[in-house]
Amino acid sequence: MRTPLVIGNWKMFGTLAEARPLATGVRDGLRRVRGADVALCPPFTALAAVGEIVRESAVALGGQTCHWDAAGAHTGEISPGMLVELGCRYVLLGHSERRKEIGETDDLVNRKVKAAIAHGLTPVLCVGETAEERRQGLTFTTVEGQLRAGLAGIPAETIAQGVLAYEPVWAIGTGQNATSAQASEVHGYLRGLLSELTSKEIAQAVRILYGGSVKADNAAELVAAPDIDGALVGGASLKVADFVAIAKHAARAATAPRGA
Ligand code: PGA
Repeated sequence: MRTPLVIGNWKMFGTLAEARPLATGVRDGLRRVRGADVALCPPFTALAAVGEIVRESAVALGGQTCHWDAAGAHTGEISPGMLVELGCRYVLLGHSERRKEIGETDDLVNRKVKAAIAHGLTPVLCVGETAEERRQGLTFTTVEGQLRAGLAGIPAETIAQGVLAYEPVWAIGTGQNATSAQASEVHGYLRGLLSELTSKEIAQAVRILYGGSVKADNAAELVAAPDIDGALVGGASLKVADFVAIAKHAARAATAPRGA
């Protein structure tokens, strides 16, 4: 049984003035919620402040990316160890916005995944097809390529510690989420691939999150699907009530019979 995981990806939102009340609201709103793991990924500049607020609560902290080197002459970058020092447990890697805007390649993402693991962080490897790729019937080809490349050279036991996120690019920030059936199809495919790369047991243990326009009113249906183990939430994670509602849906799905 996989514990659902709900991650708030704040992207480049959240000055300290905004981040503090948001993190406080999420922490307090989820104080009595059991059954789902929850993490917040604020911008780097708010990590320390948010970390202070969620310390000793059930809400974990994550970075939105990191460099592959432990230290070095990399102006503007943040190392995995720096994230660990601030209390991060997770790091998002290979988000489509970074692949597209910053030019992150599969090879680079792979190096980052390895570095994150070496520092004890849980990588959240993001994969997903564009609208054009889906139209051309290349959804499985795309996510398979990203998954295989992202996890290349990583031993099976180590893959077991990671998290995957299926985020169709056409669903991110568009208000057009993948249906539960569309997401389930890809999640099942990814789990099959994981099984091939590792073992059936490990593939069954790895959490695969869905991301892309997850909102308070569509989360319940998405997280109820047997292969969807939680959500990576962008826009809706910037509103306390919405994010808390999504996390509660995930917690409820964990206690309800799967697929019900
Ligand atoms: P969205 O973003 O929820 O705003 O669509 C999701 C993500 O990019 O992780």
